[in-house]
Amino acid sequence: MTVSSLGYVNLDVADMEGWLRFVTSIFGLEPKPRADGAVDLKMDEFHHRFSLYPAASNQLRSVGWEMQSSASLQALVSKLRAAGIEVTEGSDALKLERRVRELWRFHEPNLGLETELFYAPSACNVPLAATRPISGYNTGTLGLGHIVFSASDPAATVAFYTEMLGFKISDYIIWDGIDATFLHCNPRHHTLAIMNEFGPLKGGDLNHIMIEARSFDDIGTAYDIVRDAGYPVMLDMGKHSNDHMQSFYTFTPSGFAIEYGFGGRVIEGDWKVRTYDQPMLFGHRPPA
Ligand SMILES: [Fe+2]
Repeated sequence: MTVSSLGYVNLDVADMEGWLRFVTSIFGLEPKPRADGAVDLKMDEFHHRFSLYPAASNQLRSVGWEMQSSASLQALVSKLRAAGIEVTEGSDALKLERRVRELWRFHEPNLGLETELFYAPSACNVPLAATRPISGYNTGTLGLGHIVFSASDPAATVAFYTEMLGFKISDYIIWDGIDATFLHCNPRHHTLAIMNEFGPLKGGDLNHIMIEARSFDDIGTAYDIVRDAGYPVMLDMGKHSNDHMQSFYTFTPSGFAIEYGFGGRVIEGDWKVRTYDQPMLFGHRPPA
């Protein structure tokens, strides 16, 4: 009854045009406009991994976690209900919108996150029509990528995701007043990370989403595009101490960041949890 991967992310966006320029020019994602004004974004064999909804203000609308089987989904629904969490089945219309066979949803109380659990997404046999030349994305059993939040009560939040959703601890990094816990649910080093509140980030705020390219050249060429177009950079090119991801971070039109990475290591064998004292092996500096 454990989550198997990060499946999809749904965003309310105030600047749809800006978002579409951002995701197509930098990341090559394929927009699939819908009749209702929303735009789905394809990055791999899934029909889509992101949905952008036109809105008056920016917010994270919901996150979808993939389950390995219908039985594990049903078992998790029962477990959440036994813990006093209200879980409702998604309507047929919502299942169609998400392109999944089974769907249940609940309000995750620690991050205040609208959360969806799904099983059997529709696979699309048409390859990605990338909007710039890229090698594609490292997804599959590793899922969409990873997602990182600040929490007002990091310990309770980590306990919820480990005890209720089945995540396991990968490692910790403590630096400059930030205490981050990294969690995995498949071989991807981390699918979720929880940090304390720091700077402008309060509990429940989305810090960044990481998507992983199949080629380091995709990262380098994207970095040139970002700098040439004047998109704001959160962290320059660098390599992380824990997952060894080589990446840079650029702010989305919604204010949180996308980390565009390559070469992240996977959890394997007799994994030992470590605590690191800095997040980078090199680089990842804020721009001057
Ligand atoms: Fe990251």
